[in-house]
Amino acid sequence: MQNEMKDFLKENGLDPAGIDREGLLDTFLREMDAGLRGAPSSLQMIPSFIDPDAPVKTETPVVVLDAGGTNLRTAVVSIGKDGKAEVGSFLRGLMPGSKGEIGESEFYDTFARFLEPVVTSADSIGFCFSYPAEILPDCDARLIKWTKQIEVPSVVGTLIGTGLKRHLAKLGHDRRVVILNDTVATLLAGKSVGVSRPYSAYVGFILGTGTNTAYAEKTENIVKRSGLKPGATMAINVESGAFRGQPQSRFDAMMDATTIDPGCYTFEKMISGAYLGRIGYAILCEAAGAGLLSAGAGDAIRSWTTVANKQLDDFCGGAPEEDNPFLNAAFTRQDAECVVQLCTPVYARAAILTAVNIASAVCKTGEGRDPARPVCVNVDGSTYHRTRTAQFRSLVQTELQKLLEPRGLHYDLIRVDESPVIGAAVAGLM
Ligand code: BGC
Repeated sequence: MQNEMKDFLKENGLDPAGIDREGLLDTFLREMDAGLRGAPSSLQMIPSFIDPDAPVKTETPVVVLDAGGTNLRTAVVSIGKDGKAEVGSFLRGLMPGSKGEIGESEFYDTFARFLEPVVTSADSIGFCFSYPAEILPDCDARLIKWTKQIEVPSVVGTLIGTGLKRHLAKLGHDRRVVILNDTVATLLAGKSVGVSRPYSAYVGFILGTGTNTAYAEKTENIVKRSGLKPGATMAINVESGAFRGQPQSRFDAMMDATTIDPGCYTFEKMISGAYLGRIGYAILCEAAGAGLLSAGAGDAIRSWTTVANKQLDDFCGGAPEEDNPFLNAAFTRQDAECVVQLCTPVYARAAILTAVNIASAVCKTGEGRDPARPVCVNVDGSTYHRTRTAQFRSLVQTELQKLLEPRGLHYDLIRVDESPVIGAAVAGLM
């Protein structure tokens, strides 16, 4: 039975064991170079205009707005002289546009109203914006496109900081707004806690609802931008979710066709939390059609519209809660076994691709040769930290080691709680 499932997946292009990790890493590095030169590339390599080495004001409050894939959060943060962040006044809401299409005015009004209870606590707002946006030298940001299925089409191409300030002004507030990507914030958070350790370079990696990487690059290597201060470093937002080097399986293509942006961010759609359950659902529908599941299980699956990532992962990872759909009586013991065998490779593939992605950023820093000064990789995101199936985290780590050890590169994977919030505060205080 096991081989039958494997063959079925392989015939349709899903074969984790067959992934050419080295070839993919080379492609990643080539695309990163092209992106920095301004040549055609799937990787945008967006300069952040943030120098991770810039001094940070201490003992000064800053308001943080964190617009993530699902949640909207605000907090007031100050950084002590010892580098420790004090985070208070946490509020949580829903990311506007995550539950169906809305317009520009509603979008900014939600932000401005959400900030009202804390906005008078500080002069600056560090705004962690987890979407692809071109950053301007004054740290405003022009939205390039939405990812994570957010629907506010009218703000694409406009300046997000300017829009927020306009709506805050209507409420009588005038604030400085510094916008940064969440991976850049994660990089800064890693630096702020790791500063006492002798790291040679910094990477921020996120695998949550979406995925992406940031690393610190020498300004002279950012060939596409003239006028940058020579001899300095700048955090680069890779937008690695848009990488095009890994071909889609038939299941990816089927799932992708049901999204609001087919053909875009195909790498993110293979590895991040917003999509893993949906790929599993596509596989199970096809498997039912191919007669690999019982008629009852097939009927049950066809009566659903999708499978949530958490439920698929809980089930395949051996820890389903009582309401898990795969515990439905329609699934025989054999069906349950088939579900695990068909869907575990979705997570194994995601772990392998995640390792290649992290490795590309570590290599690109050009550092890490000295074991006493490894590259610091701060990893954030629920999909990375919570996925159980395929022993996700340890598989990522084993794969990463296989890629980086032979290259003589040393790195340290760290985790800093509330990285996007802390990093946005650091940026707001620079
Ligand atoms: C966005 C990135 C973001 C990542 C992680 C992706 O969908 O394009 O800008 O960093 O998600 O949140």
